[in-house]
Amino acid sequence: MTPSVAESAACLDGLLRSRCSVRAFRDEAVPRETVLEILRVAGRAPSNSNTQPWRVHALAGEAIRELEAAITAVFDSGQLPPPHHFPAPLPDEYGARQADFAARYYQALGIDRTDAAARTRQTRRNFGFFGAPVGLIFSIDACLKPHSWLDLGLYLQSVMLAARSRGLDTCPQVSFAPYHAVIAPVLGLPEGQVTVCGMSLGYRDERAPVNGLQMPRRDVSEFVRTMGF
Ligand SMILES: Cc1cc2nc3c(=O)[nH]c(=O)nc-3n(C[C@H](O)[C@H](O)[C@H](O)COP(=O)(O)O)c2cc1C
Repeated sequence: MTPSVAESAACLDGLLRSRCSVRAFRDEAVPRETVLEILRVAGRAPSNSNTQPWRVHALAGEAIRELEAAITAVFDSGQLPPPHHFPAPLPDEYGARQADFAARYYQALGIDRTDAAARTRQTRRNFGFFGAPVGLIFSIDACLKPHSWLDLGLYLQSVMLAARSRGLDTCPQVSFAPYHAVIAPVLGLPEGQVTVCGMSLGYRDERAPVNGLQMPRRDVSEFVRTMGF
């Protein structure tokens, strides 16, 4: 039976509200077929002229460990990754939200913000996909422009919602992007592809305090103007 409009809205709104970044996972495998089902239905995402510029490299088991070892070797060597994904300086408005995120994040983890070593250890956990059974790396053709990255963003959100609707959780991770030069040979990325981000995928560990983090959102009145209604 086709769901009513109210039922559809309740279902999608529920998925949107229940999605959050999960950074601790249960030791429970996700079948390859389930991963492919999620990545397939997410492919319904729209894209400019239907160009579908996303590429996904789905890893589990040994493939995750191999990538983690390669990235952490560079991370641990203290070599700074190439320029960061935010401009410097970050305009005040965004800088304030970034600082608010950091404060809440480290508090949820029980990490003192002045404890640089503990913060580094937590950042390092990104590269093992926070212990998730599945790690996704998203890449795009380097010649494409910002609007194609927008297409990839729509695909990412579709993946996260398709995962949520199956009782799975995710964490999108830009932390992988600066390590493209390490990732490309390990995963055998095709020539011309660039790493956009990674994503952890698995079943949320309900007991982990970090998963209790609930990031606030601006009220709609702060970012929407309405005209002519
Ligand atoms: C493009 C993108 C990159 C992100 N990169 C990381 C990351 O590298 N590591 C991490 O722990 N969280 C990362 N996040 C998660 C954000 O911190 C999170 O989405 C934000 O704080 C809002 O919280 P929520 O996802 O729980 O609603 C990223 C999110 C996005 C959309």
